Amino acid sequence: MWITCWRTLIAEEKRQGEENLLTTEEQAEINEELAHYPNKQAVSIDAMLIVQRHRGWVSDENLRDIAQLLGMSTADLDGVATFYNLIRRKAVGRHVALICDSVSCWIMGCDRVRDQLCTRLGTPLGGSTADGRFTLLPVVCLGACDHAPAMMIDDDLHTNLDEQHLEHILEKYT
Ligand code: FES
Repeated sequence: MWITCWRTLIAEEKRQGEENLLTTEEQAEINEELAHYPNKQAVSIDAMLIVQRHRGWVSDENLRDIAQLLGMSTADLDGVATFYNLIRRKAVGRHVALICDSVSCWIMGCDRVRDQLCTRLGTPLGGSTADGRFTLLPVVCLGACDHAPAMMIDDDLHTNLDEQHLEHILEKYT
């Protein structure tokens, strides 16, 4: 009995280990970036963004593999990730909503929009919904100040947000 449990545990660890490895596609994209720079470390942010685009975030294991690929220490790469706040080091939901809290959006009521989103989805800013559908994160100016308040869900920019608009937008993301 315990041998079966032990084997199951080993198999699960192996599966998780394989999931954490960089995929061939991710490695190819990073190598393509590397071809443009004489210094491997110059690619550190792009490499993390590539992995984040595929997985939603960058785990410790991903960070270790990227660092190895770039000939850096994991600690140095983690330092870059910490400094560059668009790199996510925690797991996120299926959809990531970035809510702008810079000046124009603040003047145009982004607080109201944020509060409505948090109440509607039952999670504070910085958190994820219990069903893993959304993660809500603050972000600086999205470049849509003339249509504030604005937010971005995945790759979609949403502007001129108001209460009614929000409900309609959320329906698109399952
Ligand atoms: S201040 Fe929000 S988009 Fe510029």
